[in-house]
Amino acid sequence: MAIRNIVKIEDPILRNKSRDVVDFNEKLWTLLDDMFETMYKADGCGLAAPQIGLLRKVIVVDCGKGKIEMINPTILEMHGEIGGIEGCLSVPGKHGHVMRAEKIKVEFYTRYGEKKVKTYREFEARALQHEIDHLNGILYIDRATKEYDD
Ligand code: CO
Repeated sequence: MAIRNIVKIEDPILRNKSRDVVDFNEKLWTLLDDMFETMYKADGCGLAAPQIGLLRKVIVVDCGKGKIEMINPTILEMHGEIGGIEGCLSVPGKHGHVMRAEKIKVEFYTRYGEKKVKTYREFEARALQHEIDHLNGILYIDRATKEYDD
């Protein structure tokens, strides 16, 4: 495993759309393991592949309730609306208030290419919406209603 370099807000790659993963091979597994290691080292609770300079639909999340990894995620349903504070490893030194769906149903693939559909709530739902936004070139600051310096 290896720590990858996290790109910051100035990097235009963060504004591009990611492509589907088609090969569920060892290279993908290494990428996922590296993304977790990079996220934990940086004290984050979510990381998307574009943040390490790769335009692939891969995200990892851990909000203290266990590891979540998703390949080619699609949000199928969104329910409710709730405000909360978000930060981003690519936007250091800042936080913002963002409205998100309270509950989401997501379709995704596992690292072995198995298709799954799961429902997430609260912090995990928020983190997943934030990371899936990254795959579409969207940053939380685009949605924030208030921004704060740390
Ligand atoms: Co982020």
